[in-house]
Amino acid sequence: MLKLKDITLANNIKMPPIGLGVYKMQAGLEMNQAVKAAYENGYRLFDTAQMYGNEAALGTALKENDIPREDIFLVSKVDNGNQWYDQTLESLKITLEKLQTSYLDAFLVHWPGQNKERTISTWKAMEEAYESGLVKSIGVCNFEIGQLQYLMEHCRIQPMINQIEYSPLFHQPELVSYCKEHQIQVMAWAPLQRGSFGETILSIAEKYQKTPAQILLRWTIQHGIIPIPKSKNPDRLRENIDIFDFSLKAEDRNALDQLRQEKRTSFDPLTFDF
Ligand SMILES: NC(=O)c1ccc[n+]([C@@H]2O[C@H](COP(=O)([O-])OP(=O)(O)OC[C@H]3O[C@@H](n4cnc5c(N)ncnc54)[C@H](OP(=O)(O)O)[C@@H]3O)[C@@H](O)[C@H]2O)c1
Repeated sequence: MLKLKDITLANNIKMPPIGLGVYKMQAGLEMNQAVKAAYENGYRLFDTAQMYGNEAALGTALKENDIPREDIFLVSKVDNGNQWYDQTLESLKITLEKLQTSYLDAFLVHWPGQNKERTISTWKAMEEAYESGLVKSIGVCNFEIGQLQYLMEHCRIQPMINQIEYSPLFHQPELVSYCKEHQIQVMAWAPLQRGSFGETILSIAEKYQKTPAQILLRWTIQHGIIPIPKSKNPDRLRENIDIFDFSLKAEDRNALDQLRQEKRTSFDPLTFDF
């Protein structure tokens, strides 16, 4: 079975180079089958969130499939309504109960929002959770450079991860460079552009005799970023992790880089608030 080389975070915690995102994965059969197929095919990272409403379903699927806790890297995220110090710590307890575990491998702030005081209060709770050992690493999602700068000027422990929208259509080289300079590992959400592929991707796939999804995920990995593609389909799950036996040439990477458009599929972190 595929054994992948881990990535090392700033605090020396090891993290798998690809994972399964479970946004919109339904509780029960769909989750159980996907988790089973993922684990059997070498996935060791599972990404959920309080917001997805399926932490308990993921916890059950991991248990029912007898997946050893120490084998996997479990990620969840504090929901917007659970921000601020006390609520964040309280919500983490519930997350751990739902996932049937005593710790998370990474706990992330889901959205920055526009209230700086709330961000810092929430981050202090993340630091507390980290220092108490309930979470092995802490990070954020959807933070832009200015928001990271502000956080880092006001924190004791720097974020180790920033999970952002990232695909050829929407990628932010300046943000990614900033994260690399500060040893913040970038994770890519919606790395498959939610299953929509244009002409350039299709023709590169044809050239390498790979699928369009494999081309997108390989491109992400070659940028040093951890993709967390979602699929409920066992064949696609297998396809999506089968990307470690080829490399994209510079010309093809550049062609994909150039598909960049300034169009997000979700909220703008610089204005979105809650
Ligand atoms: N931090 C954040 O703010 C944030 C935001 C959004 C998402 N996320 C995380 O990122 C994960 C991934 O993002 P996402 O789920 O939005 O989008 P995505 O992974 O880009 O796309 C998922 C879609 O692509 C389809 N798909 C999967 N494999 C495929 C393949 N090989 N060929 C063609 N289509 C394929 C899936 O359908 P099937 O399931 O039917 O295969 C699903 O409809 C989420 O699950 C979640 O964990 C985080």
